[in-house]
Amino acid sequence: MNEEHRKNLMQNVKKLASEAQEDGDPTAWFEKLYLDANGDISKIPWAKMTPHPALEDWLIQTNFTYKNALVIGCGLGDDAEKLASIGASVTAFDISPRAISWCNTRFSHSSVNYVVADLLTLESRWKQSFDFVFESRTIQALPIDIRNKVINAVANLVSPGGTLLIVTRLRDTEDIPEGPPWAVSELELSQFHQLGFQEVSRTPYIDANQPTIKQASIEYQSVVL
Ligand SMILES: C[S@@+](CC[C@H](N)C(=O)[O-])C[C@H]1O[C@@H](n2cnc3c(N)ncnc32)[C@H](O)[C@@H]1O
Repeated sequence: MNEEHRKNLMQNVKKLASEAQEDGDPTAWFEKLYLDANGDISKIPWAKMTPHPALEDWLIQTNFTYKNALVIGCGLGDDAEKLASIGASVTAFDISPRAISWCNTRFSHSSVNYVVADLLTLESRWKQSFDFVFESRTIQALPIDIRNKVINAVANLVSPGGTLLIVTRLRDTEDIPEGPPWAVSELELSQFHQLGFQEVSRTPYIDANQPTIKQASIEYQSVVL
């Protein structure tokens, strides 16, 4: 993707997100973006059409023996498919019905259970139900004024003793950046500790197309009390 195209996509994302926020529904723009793309991958700014390299790197370092995996905000499904390919039973959800139907079309013989669901209003039967939870770039896609709620909802899905892996942009101050994306601060991440998670590892991730942007994959373990 060339720089000009990326700039145009991000301008469109910012416009859609700010309209959604003004309407009091900060997640409404995702479905609009997927619908407007009408199957054209080049219109989805985050679409890699391959698993996130930070997930692939983490998997190389890890003895992955988890049984029940969940992918939050799965987008076009590549991360979920990767986890299914190594033997996990995978549920993957996204708030956008169009994204989920796109996953089902792309991976029509998949074992992944693709579901339309909103992280902020999840069914209680998913509470603490997954021994591996993966989220890539969804926390940062949601505004900072609901971050507390978002982090709570993410944490709530991990079974006691289970693992949570997040891939996110990081920011060094508590100043509110112009988003989306809204990079995550250390203070915000400390909420995971308060919710009973221990940071196991943190690996910087450098995107060759955006080398100055600070990003990392962070692995947490839910501590069994
Ligand atoms: C920046 S994209 C990242 C997609 C994918 N995780 C990736 O890394 O390619 C954020 C995704 O989260 C989804 N999303 C946003 N808010 C959500 C919510 N409240 N519940 C579930 N999915 C959500 C969006 O539809 C979008 O697919």
